[in-house]
Amino acid sequence: MKPEDLKPPYAKEERRIFIHDRVWFLPNDRLPPPNEFVFPGWEHPDIFGNNHPVCIEYCSGNGAWIAGKAQANPHLNWVAVERKFDRVRKIWSKIKNLDLPNLFIICGEAHQATRTYFPECSAHDVYINFPDPWPKARHAKNRLIQAEFAQQLWRILQEGRSLTFVTDDPPYSEWLIEVMTAHKGFSSSYPSPYYTTDESCYGTSYFDQLWRSKGRTIRYHKFQKSC
Ligand SMILES: C[S@@+](CC[C@H](N)C(=O)[O-])C[C@H]1O[C@@H](n2cnc3c(N)ncnc32)[C@H](O)[C@@H]1O
Repeated sequence: MKPEDLKPPYAKEERRIFIHDRVWFLPNDRLPPPNEFVFPGWEHPDIFGNNHPVCIEYCSGNGAWIAGKAQANPHLNWVAVERKFDRVRKIWSKIKNLDLPNLFIICGEAHQATRTYFPECSAHDVYINFPDPWPKARHAKNRLIQAEFAQQLWRILQEGRSLTFVTDDPPYSEWLIEVMTAHKGFSSSYPSPYYTTDESCYGTSYFDQLWRSKGRTIRYHKFQKSC
């Protein structure tokens, strides 16, 4: 299957929320009010059809990392959250070509999907790999990681489970550490400076390879839901 085999699901004026062929389409906040969509639960046959643990990756890009994880860990369910349709198509083609029934895509915005639909204590682990760094100070409000999002991650994670955050961008690393250490319900799995640069078995992604080829150092952070 080619990425283009996933057809655009609706015309602009007809945007609505629905699940079809391994993709949950979630038009964003700026669109007309959504229909009366009720999240059916991860176990629903249109999503995973089983109650295996659910791992979520936000900002999946072309899905190389999460497809590798889904292939290597068939006993776990994997959810890719990505807002750009052209990238969703690339993840979708990996589901088809690698035959990955344990990988499901949300074509939508991370905050909206999490806040509106994800049930409390329903995520086994959460991963964020190379999110957009928004390097200018005046754009920092656009970063995925904000105090409110940290609270949402705490709400959806099961106790003792973790957020893993990977970046090549030192200011974003510092921002993440500031937000997560301020949250009383998380503790860092790594001692100060709260990250490691050595995670040989973590898996790789498009941006991981890009930044490594340019000689950048990659920082891995892990925060566990402690209470
Ligand atoms: C720099 S790319 C990293 C892609 C991938 N994780 C990798 O390592 O190759 C960041 C991705 O996050 C997506 N993204 C950014 N903000 C998002 C949000 N709020 N909700 C969902 N996806 C988002 C972008 O569309 C883009 O594909």
